[in-house]
Amino acid sequence: MTAAAPRTAIVSALHDELAGVLALMPDERRQTLAGRDFWRGHLHGQEVVAVLSGIGKVAAATTATLLIQHFGVQRIVFTGVAGGLGAGVNVGDVVLARALLQHDMDASPLFPRHEVPGYGRSRFSTDDALTDALARACERMLHALPQHLGADTLQAFGLRAPRLHQGLVLSGDRFVATTQESRVLQRELPEALAVEMEGAAFAQVCHDFRVPLAVVRTISDRADDAAHVDFPRFLRDVASRYSSGVLNMLLST
Ligand code: ADE
Repeated sequence: MTAAAPRTAIVSALHDELAGVLALMPDERRQTLAGRDFWRGHLHGQEVVAVLSGIGKVAAATTATLLIQHFGVQRIVFTGVAGGLGAGVNVGDVVLARALLQHDMDASPLFPRHEVPGYGRSRFSTDDALTDALARACERMLHALPQHLGADTLQAFGLRAPRLHQGLVLSGDRFVATTQESRVLQRELPEALAVEMEGAAFAQVCHDFRVPLAVVRTISDRADDAAHVDFPRFLRDVASRYSSGVLNMLLST
């Protein structure tokens, strides 16, 4: 751990998701470790380190461990995109994870489906206080959305009155892009709001090290056959601005 450990880690899986956050850090300095670029600096005067986790659970677990063991961060906020699963979880909505589960974990018949061997559980909770603070930041960001995005972008993606949802988020090493797979997940785990590829790995590592975690995801698609969203453009024009807007609100209070 370094002498002045950054308090908050800000993590995304993809470059476009993190770009808006880096733009808010006036003094970021890059440090490369294990093939990852870590950006240390300040956001609203608070010590932060921002990093791309890479895609998938293994890359996420390595990144989480480095943030905790090498950088000594005291809390982690993961921000990115996810596919909507729950009824009414639409493109442009925001999902805050209260618990995360690896939907592709299956050590049955040795252990119940989805249970992580050795832990006696399938769900890992996020930190209540940090998630509550993020919920307030999300509500404020959504309220100010027209200023963040502009009317053209809102119209281009058909975003009308996006909502905040809180609950169970699934993670797995698969981009869910068929209605069939999406239905299987909805049937197996009816409470699931959204699916992504990293959050549950962060949650397991943060549980091991007792480090508070929050996971916020902008819904980029419905995890089905209908690829009605221009994914790269959505990342650049919408998700990146949601992330920077929420973190700006979170760290300025
Ligand atoms: N991230 C964004 N959309 C996703 C999807 N459909 N499946 C997994 N991860 C995602």
